[in-house]
Amino acid sequence: MKMKMWLFVVSVLLVIDFPIIKTEVVNSFEKCKNYFLNEQPPVIPGILNNSDSTGNNRYKQICQKYKNAYRFATLYDTENKIPVFSAYIYEGKKENFTRPNPKWMIESELESPVAEMTVLTCANQAIREDYRNNSYNVDRGHLFPSCHAANKVTAKSTFTLTNVVPQKISFNGGSWSRMEEKTKNIMDTCINSNNNVSAHVLTGAIPGEIKLNKKVNIPLYLWMAFCCYNKTEEKWVSQAYWAENIEENPVDEKTIEQKSVRELQNFFNETWVPNVQLFDNYCK
Ligand SMILES: *[C@@H]1O[C@H](CO)[C@@H](O)[C@H](O)[C@H]1NC(C)=O
Ligand SMILES: *[C@@H]1O[C@H](CO)[C@@H](O)[C@H](O)[C@H]1NC(C)=O
Ligand SMILES: *[C@@H]1O[C@H](CO)[C@@H](O)[C@H](O)[C@H]1NC(C)=O
Ligand SMILES: *[C@@H]1O[C@H](CO)[C@@H](O)[C@H](O)[C@H]1NC(C)=O
Ligand SMILES: *[C@@H]1O[C@H](CO)[C@@H](O)[C@H](O)[C@H]1NC(C)=O
Ligand SMILES: *[C@@H]1O[C@H](CO)[C@@H](O)[C@H](O)[C@H]1NC(C)=O
Repeated sequence: MKMKMWLFVVSVLLVIDFPIIKTEVVNSFEKCKNYFLNEQPPVIPGILNNSDSTGNNRYKQICQKYKNAYRFATLYDTENKIPVFSAYIYEGKKENFTRPNPKWMIESELESPVAEMTVLTCANQAIREDYRNNSYNVDRGHLFPSCHAANKVTAKSTFTLTNVVPQKISFNGGSWSRMEEKTKNIMDTCINSNNNVSAHVLTGAIPGEIKLNKKVNIPLYLWMAFCCYNKTEEKWVSQAYWAENIEENPVDEKTIEQKSVRELQNFFNETWVPNVQLFDNYCK
């Protein structure tokens, strides 16, 4: 009796300290496939093939649910403890809001069934402590950036540790942040046939060899690609960007070059996985 009560108190305290994002880890993007262009997740041979995460337990398909609604989708690598990518729809700004600063959230369902105890160990995912005061000069780099969210509640939903990778602080706040801002302005011109701003975005990381806290992979590169319909030009347009996860000098004002999706996939051939197909063929 006493033990049960104690466990109850502990679990309540844990819930307070770690706001848990309600997600679905069922190895299926079924409920959030709308975040992918034509409801078709990318093909990443050996990792995600025809919506199937090969290698069973390593890669988890997460439908990121927050405040009772799906917000985006993430493929999470439980071995490297970083996401492979997050997929979302850029819809422009639907309300004015300042960048939220919520507590970081973790996914209870990535852990084994004994909920209360596993929250303590967090064996399968990175926890906030992993990012504290490290000698690698990395912080939590969002894949789905909060500044690309249409409203405040979606912006808050991006503050989950399954949506971030260890990213060099100067890179995160420098060229990568400028690229996010630039693509935001470009995607504001993605007007679909309903006259809505709409672009399908994929943002991911290519894992490296070094691990933060001997646990969380520090990726070598970050990449992003989007595809959208441009009603004005009556055609599909796409762009891609990638950059090395290295320190940069703010005075250099480094910019990340705009590339095509095909060039990004070629880059994957050499540095990561060959024959990746991010979108349908018309998003080149
Ligand atoms: C992907 O799946 C298809 C059939 O669903 C199969 O033909 C193909 O060989 C698979 N490719 C890889 C790299 O697993
Ligand atoms: C946001 O604020 C600006 C300036 O105050 C205003 O012009 C704009 O319409 C607002 N946008 C939304 C979506 O409320
Ligand atoms: C961070 O770690 C370094 C080296 O381990 C230590 O000297 C420093 O005091 C720490 N800083 C904080 C804010 O904990
Ligand atoms: C869409 O077309 C307009 C008009 O040509 C152009 O200014 C804009 O940059 C295009 N947007 C994209 C994302 O290609
Ligand atoms: C898209 O446009 C339609 C018609 O203008 C509107 O009813 C709908 O709510 C919009 N959808 C989104 C996701 O903004
Ligand atoms: C590399 O990438 C390109 C572009 O996506 C593709 O056409 C080519 O077949 C890929 N594979 C290899 C093994 O080079």
